[in-house]
Amino acid sequence: DATAVKERPRPGEKKGFVEEMRMAAMRLHTRDQAPKDGSRPEEKPEDQPVRQWTPSRAGYLRFLAESKAVYDTLEQIVEAAPKSEYAKFRNTGLERSAPLARDIQWLQKTYDLPSPEVSADGPGAEYASALKQLAADDPAAFICHFYNFYFAHTAGGRMIGRKVAEVILDNKTLDFYQWDGEVKDKLAAVKDKINELAETWTREQKDHCLEETNKSFQHSGAILRTITA
Ligand code: HEM
Repeated sequence: DATAVKERPRPGEKKGFVEEMRMAAMRLHTRDQAPKDGSRPEEKPEDQPVRQWTPSRAGYLRFLAESKAVYDTLEQIVEAAPKSEYAKFRNTGLERSAPLARDIQWLQKTYDLPSPEVSADGPGAEYASALKQLAADDPAAFICHFYNFYFAHTAGGRMIGRKVAEVILDNKTLDFYQWDGEVKDKLAAVKDKINELAETWTREQKDHCLEETNKSFQHSGAILRTITA
């Protein structure tokens, strides 16, 4: 019956809510991206193994600019804190807006590339406007995006950066992939804060947050696709 379903333990629940979010995300990876039980089949262009991508410098520059549009927005949102609970996510050390600004300049200058256009209907701007809306109206959903965007970047994102740099940047490690101090300590601190916040949520709010994972992958997937465009 309905009560039994509601009270069934969720995968990862015992380790805290972030583990539930992580497991929801891992189920959306393909087997090649991160082999796990329940990985989904390859369906979209960005599902192809990264080693088979053919990145271009202009495409990668665009990817950095689209990503920056999203980080700018996430970082502005926690600064403005339209919901007071976001304030605890200021100055986590995971912020990527400033390093991306430096990388974009470096790439343009080094390879003599035109300014990357972030158009109002591009994937970065589209995601940014969705995030602003969610931040105001739907904190549990907003936190799902916040978690996935920052944590994905430190996992698969770093691997992608390495592979792309091998092919088109002569192995240069961009600032986007470097943090002051140990990134794993920063991630652990943010995990604790999300867990703490989620303890104030009902089971329905937690489930709602987990259900948002899909949208987070759709938006990030659209941004990743610009690398090979
Ligand atoms: C973790 C690869 C896209 C969210 C990981 C891990 C790998 C990976 C190898 C580590 C697995 C482990 O710890 O056992 C990739 C690749 C991608 C991709 C190759 C695309 C080509 C995405 C996207 C999202 C995402 C689009 C969501 C926006 C996450 C999260 C984790 C993760 C939340 C857990 C991070 C942590 O626990 O610190 N990914 N991923 N990934 N990925 Fe992805």
